[in-house]
Amino acid sequence: QELQLNLEQIEKGGYEHFMLKEIYEQPNAIRDTYRGRLLADKGIIKMAGVDDNLDRISKANRILIVGCGTSWHAGLVAEYIFEDMARIPVEVEYASEFRYRNPVITENDVVIAISQSGETADTMAAIKLAKEKGAFVFGVCNVVGSSISRETMAGAYTHAGPEIGVASTKAFTTQITVLTLMALKLGKYKGTISASDFRLHLQALEAIPQKVEKLLQSDKVIKEIAETYKNTRNCIYLGRGYNFPVALEGALKLKEISYIHAEGYPAAEMKHGPIALIDEEMPVVVIAVRKGHYEKVVSNIQEIKSRKGKIISVVTEGDTEVKELADHVIEIPETIESFTPLLTTIPLQLLSYHIAVMLGKNVDQPRNLAKSVTVE
Ligand code: AGP
Repeated sequence: QELQLNLEQIEKGGYEHFMLKEIYEQPNAIRDTYRGRLLADKGIIKMAGVDDNLDRISKANRILIVGCGTSWHAGLVAEYIFEDMARIPVEVEYASEFRYRNPVITENDVVIAISQSGETADTMAAIKLAKEKGAFVFGVCNVVGSSISRETMAGAYTHAGPEIGVASTKAFTTQITVLTLMALKLGKYKGTISASDFRLHLQALEAIPQKVEKLLQSDKVIKEIAETYKNTRNCIYLGRGYNFPVALEGALKLKEISYIHAEGYPAAEMKHGPIALIDEEMPVVVIAVRKGHYEKVVSNIQEIKSRKGKIISVVTEGDTEVKELADHVIEIPETIESFTPLLTTIPLQLLSYHIAVMLGKNVDQPRNLAKSVTVE
């Protein structure tokens, strides 16, 4: 028993939970994922699975992304990235819906299947369906030799290392890293991204790990916020553009480890009904980085404030406007808009983690959940 406990402590690297260890591993997990692929000094991206199929993938009429849970959220971020950089239409589907709805798939489609475990039954079934209909299927997995990595025609592994915590953290950020490298490579190949922009993106991506390291030092602020809201019954997460999927992911983290009901929405969607939920009992996490339609997010925050909602904002370092309005402010380092999800997701992971620990929940193995849903 004693030995078992010590072994587990060694495996957790001294962290209280695997989930916390995996949150703190993200800087190195992102580095390991782009190592050997992102060659910023040479101004190139090398990805064997993409290089060998560059023509087929770049000529796709459409990219279909299938996944479940957090992997589906990574796919939603990739939709913004691929359309922005490679100008290829992207549709993101829950694998469980895609496989049963008799979707229109042709050999001009490229399907990207995202799965940390590489064993998710619905994602596997979606892959098989897409292959039967002639599509080219590319896998993004974290487990070498997993069923999905063997079923897909090509792929790229995330090098996040084993993810033990049921709630996915480093898998999400490394999936986005792989998908970003892919989109950048396609954009460069197709000429839809200029050589100078390409280099700028390579340098910005290379700088992400140390920005995550800096972010992880703000854990104290996040712990204080967790203390304030740990007994809330509900929570709303809002984001726009690239950070709308991060709002969904932040809500999922809170749901699955603290069992508090949470929902993610595009910030502008509030006025189409959900704002009726806002009162002084409702905390609202708003991702308000100074990018894209920042001013519109500020006005969304004002609407919530006027209804006495409690505002927890994730802002760009040095922000003053949102600081005036929000009840709590978490600052993230500056980066280019398409890479903000790699940073904004970190405080949301930590917020959920601390609330769950304060509530005495089983953080690494939440009730009713499995690490890989191999059943349908
Ligand atoms: C996310 O925190 C969950 N653990 C769950 O939604 C997970 O992302 C989903 O089951 C997909 O798993 P996969 O990436 O291994 O396919």
